Amino acid sequence: MAPEVIACEQQYDSSYDARCDVWSLGITAIELGDGDPPLFDMHPVKTLFKIPRNPPPTLLYPEKWCEEFNHFISQCLIKDFEKRPSVTHLLDHPFIKVAHGKVLFLQQQLAKVLQDQKHLNPVVKTRHERMHTRRPYRVEDAEKYCLEDDLVNLEVLDEDTIIHQLQKRYVDLLIYTYVGDILIALNPFQNLSIYSPQFSRLYHGVKRVSNPPHIFASADAAYQCMVTFSKDQCIVISGESGSGKTESAHLIVQHLTFLGKANNQTLREKILQVNSLVEAFGNACTAINDNSSRFGKYLEMMFTPTGAVMGARISEYLLEKSRVIKQAEGEKNFHIFYYIYAGLYHQKKLSEFRLPEEKPPRYIADETGRVMHDITSKESYRRQFEAIQHCFRIIGFTHKEVHSVYRILAGILNIGNIEFAAISSQHQTDKSEVPNAEALENAACVLCISPQELQEALTSYCVVTRGETIIRTNTVDRAADVRDAMSKALYGRLFSWIVNRINTLLQPDKNICSAEDGLNVGILDIFGFENFQRNSFEQLCINIANEQIQYYFNQHVFALEQMEYKNEGIDATPVEYEDNRPLLDMFLQKPLGLLALLDEESRFPRATDQTLVDKFEDNLRCKYFWRPKGVELCFGIHHYAGKVLYDASGVLEKNRDTLPADVVVVLRTSKNKLLQQLFSIPLTKTGNLAQTRARITAASRSLPPHFSAGRAKVDTLEVIRHPEETTNMKRQTMASYFRYSLMDLLSKMVVGQPHFVRCIKPNDDREALKFSRERVLAQLRSTGILETVSIRQQGYSHRILFEEFVKRYYYLAFRAHQTPLASKESCVAILEKSRLDDWVLGKTKVFLKYYHVEQLNLLLREVIGRVVVLQAYTKGWLGARRYRRVREKREKGAVVIQSAWRGYDARRKFKKISNRRSESAVHIRAVLRGSVDHKSSQQAESNSGHAQTSSNSLAITEKIRYSQAQSSPKGCGVFTGHPNKVAEHLASEHSVSGTDSLSSRTCHAAPDHPGLSPSRGAPAKPGSENGLAQKQRTPHRRCQQPKMLSSPEDTMYYNQLNGTLEYQGSKRKPRKLGQIKVLDGEDEYYKSLSPVDSIPEEDNSAHSFFFSSSSKGASFAHH
Ligand SMILES: Nc1ncnc2c1ncn2[C@@H]1O[C@H](COP(=O)(O)OP(=O)(O)OP(=O)(O)O)[C@@H](O)[C@H]1O
Ligand SMILES: [Mg+2]
Repeated sequence: MAPEVIACEQQYDSSYDARCDVWSLGITAIELGDGDPPLFDMHPVKTLFKIPRNPPPTLLYPEKWCEEFNHFISQCLIKDFEKRPSVTHLLDHPFIKVAHGKVLFLQQQLAKVLQDQKHLNPVVKTRHERMHTRRPYRVEDAEKYCLEDDLVNLEVLDEDTIIHQLQKRYVDLLIYTYVGDILIALNPFQNLSIYSPQFSRLYHGVKRVSNPPHIFASADAAYQCMVTFSKDQCIVISGESGSGKTESAHLIVQHLTFLGKANNQTLREKILQVNSLVEAFGNACTAINDNSSRFGKYLEMMFTPTGAVMGARISEYLLEKSRVIKQAEGEKNFHIFYYIYAGLYHQKKLSEFRLPEEKPPRYIADETGRVMHDITSKESYRRQFEAIQHCFRIIGFTHKEVHSVYRILAGILNIGNIEFAAISSQHQTDKSEVPNAEALENAACVLCISPQELQEALTSYCVVTRGETIIRTNTVDRAADVRDAMSKALYGRLFSWIVNRINTLLQPDKNICSAEDGLNVGILDIFGFENFQRNSFEQLCINIANEQIQYYFNQHVFALEQMEYKNEGIDATPVEYEDNRPLLDMFLQKPLGLLALLDEESRFPRATDQTLVDKFEDNLRCKYFWRPKGVELCFGIHHYAGKVLYDASGVLEKNRDTLPADVVVVLRTSKNKLLQQLFSIPLTKTGNLAQTRARITAASRSLPPHFSAGRAKVDTLEVIRHPEETTNMKRQTMASYFRYSLMDLLSKMVVGQPHFVRCIKPNDDREALKFSRERVLAQLRSTGILETVSIRQQGYSHRILFEEFVKRYYYLAFRAHQTPLASKESCVAILEKSRLDDWVLGKTKVFLKYYHVEQLNLLLREVIGRVVVLQAYTKGWLGARRYRRVREKREKGAVVIQSAWRGYDARRKFKKISNRRSESAVHIRAVLRGSVDHKSSQQAESNSGHAQTSSNSLAITEKIRYSQAQSSPKGCGVFTGHPNKVAEHLASEHSVSGTDSLSSRTCHAAPDHPGLSPSRGAPAKPGSENGLAQKQRTPHRRCQQPKMLSSPEDTMYYNQLNGTLEYQGSKRKPRKLGQIKVLDGEDEYYKSLSPVDSIPEEDNSAHSFFFSSSSKGASFAHH
């Protein structure tokens, strides 16, 4: 891989082009020449370290090759790709040019060489189709690398060897080294290209020894343990300030996010942004570290039982609020103040936030004016501001919320600019005022409070005694203290609110997995051990916290382990280690621990810093505490990481951390909802803003009347409580917050199985590749790494109860359906089946080395993997079978439904048809009866006409026969058989060939009958029931001889007929009953009924008997 490609993986601003292929060409040329590419026997990860560092590779024996070839390779392998020639340029290279026109010759030459090679040593190909060439892959070397990766493998375990080993690796840029299951991380002080997604893939569920040590491997170990054992994990990162804890924490989050790939990409993006956002508010530049964490952070990443990331939660501890108002020389305020000032400056929005443009606010200004220069000239601050805006957006903060946050930050900067002056009058000398109202007004404006009320709160305070409210004034110093206390409180609560808000936005979706079922990996990144020239209360707290973490480490690595050897009767050489428990007791115990004494002294109004140090000296009589001679207000502590001298001045005041109730009341009346909220929500015991939303009633109740009256509306939806409820100024001190914070942190940590990452700072100058043996040794000693190496070498880091062991690993030796007893024998069976040595069995526990557990877990994962494959196949097969069955059932169901419907439909039609048949039969019978009556009457009248009548009747029958023969030869016989059968035949013909065009046309050629058709006026559809009805009725009307109608049925018939004619627009008036006239062929009624216009005559011929046409009208009349 070309160096620029490797660089691109790490640095977002670097790029590469097609010339990286030219590099590959050079590498291929070497491979062709030497038989192997450069660094071929090195582990790929190490190769990636080496390529950017090493000079460009060359042939193994350049002197054996012609000058052109060497030069060609050197041109291809120019490290700076901008200077490297492109392929087009290389075509003009003499080495290539000589080959022009000799392609065939060269091919033959090459073929010959290959042939010779084949005879000399037959080619063996590896799994990846790579040719094994002269040099075999040196397994011994690989082993050697692995051995060096873990200090436990060292034969000699003294300080020198360990330091030498670490130094050698550091120079090779191998910054990570194992001590058993503990990772040592040396700060490289330069960007390395070993954190790309490719590396993430490398460290995904593989054996630890398969890859060089890496922070990703620690993250992977924690993740795999969590998934395999369904147990919470905790990664503890410790080390001095500037040793790389925060960077390591970022990398762990990055890798865990990769491992716990959730489908929800947005969530992943959010989680990756969290650290940047929180650190912009909680980190600052110190004398030691430009990005020093000024708070303790415990980030819990939440996963589903199957290992998909589903949310995150941050717990923050002990933000160093005092930094807001004052920073030591060479240090800076929290990053966010610079980012926001630069961002607003470049966006020309400073005036909108009432921030001065010419001079930076006092809280972020420095004497040299460098800050302002950097803000105006450097792009980095502005870009950081944009990055923070991006973080806010990605995580899900609303625009309004972000705006409120900016206003509060601008408010804090403006508050810092408020100056006080003494007012001396005859009676009163300790009064203060604000001589320049501009800053005050600016602050009040952006915080949406009244400037007068703000001034009052700063320069005076209320004392309530015996029901009376007395207003007292503040001196200049006191007013400045109140101002600073206000700034600190504002910032502290704002920070807390941001963390709470992030937690809300990143909380897991309850639909995915309930919180109880989820699993956590906690990552602890606290402020590192500090020893400045002047150390104050903040450093004391930071260092006590580090003592606590060291104690936790000692407990897990040494104390618990050795205690178990004793209890379980294991014969193991005890390892000496420095136990810092007595020192911790000196700080934390009650009532005579340092913090308890500090709290006690803080309650005495007359106590001073001097009395405090005296008190310490009187009570803390142990080897860890001393008081240096000749230095006032100082005391020294011998920490695990070295001796630190603390300056006690201001410690009492810092511990009290008082915020006057007057200030709280003013801030609660702000129109800025967020600000209201910050001072209405109560603080927790750890000094953070509680996450709950309180009740409205409490809010309105507690607001003092003079604030609610005449003041712009306070949003009562937000909580407003009595100041004392939220400021806790009387009861809580910083020391008590600190104590609770430690308790809270430990309670979270002990839940998970710990994994340790120990960060080491190789030098104090923050220089890459500089390894200070003294500094590293001091850190190794203080953190007990040397002892850790020996305990990991000799000891058994994992002690598992028989029961638990059998439960976890019984698949390795027993069948799945078996339930082996939780006994020694079962454990032995498992251990032997897994081919492990050097394990020991105690009375109730299996004692394993750290690498045993890894091996067992891998074996287990393999078995589980196979089970999963089996299950997947079985589930697949079952699923397919189920699907087939369902499909068959459905298909059958469809057939059943279809046949049922067909049956139903056929029956329904049949019923209708048979009804109509019988109706038709009735009509036909009536017609025939009518004609018979007529004939007999005619016979009676004239005997002479007899022959003619019979011949007429014969003619009709003949006519029908003829027409039926033409249209339906089959039906002919039926029709001629009996007159009743005419209708029957018609009906059956209709039902059989409902869609037949001829018959359908025939059927609906007759007009609607008003009384019988339900769709009056609408043309009857072919094959429809209307059509059928008409077809059956038409012959009845047409064949009927006009006659005098007199029966009631006849009357009805005529009535209906009249109605139809009227409806059809007949010019004839409806006739009254009794005015009935005999219809003849010329009658309009017949004309209107006649289909003759629409049906061609030839088509109609078959039914001419039933349907009159104008030409037949005469014969009808005649008839
Ligand atoms: N893995 C790394 N790769 C590159 N640079 C690193 C790495 N680790 C640390 N650094 C460098 O060291 C600096 C300090 O690291 P970091 O802020 O993580 O220290 P820290 O231990 O968190 O210190 P503090 O206790 O003051 O917060 C980083 O800003 C970065 O420049
Ligand atoms: Mg840090």
